[in-house]
Amino acid sequence: MTQVRKIKVKLQRFDPNISAPDFSEYEVPVEPGSSVMNVLTYIYENIDSSIAYYTSCRIGKCLGCDMGINGTVDYACTTPVPVDDDLTITPLPEYVRVKDVTINRARPKRPTGKKPVIA
Ligand code: FES
Repeated sequence: MTQVRKIKVKLQRFDPNISAPDFSEYEVPVEPGSSVMNVLTYIYENIDSSIAYYTSCRIGKCLGCDMGINGTVDYACTTPVPVDDDLTITPLPEYVRVKDVTINRARPKRPTGKKPVIA
């Protein structure tokens, strides 16, 4: 039998036409081994279809889903949900934001060659 637990997810929201960045909170059931991408997909499909996030390969190959996950930069599709913790998801701060945690990779805010850092 699979153990499902509920976690609190804080997702940074941003719409350039409406407001400054803010957080939305969601309660999401997760199974052991769930990825951060599974959580985002659950929110999109079951709670709030207005969230925006990047997804493509879902296996860590396209390298497009990197974001801030509990204060570190990692890929949402290959990062498991923390076992004993809630989840805070933010966009990469070095790029111009498009919406929520999606970014414009063609428009870095930092000089190229510098490692991304979550503030
Ligand atoms: S969706 Fe391709 S690396 Fe995560």
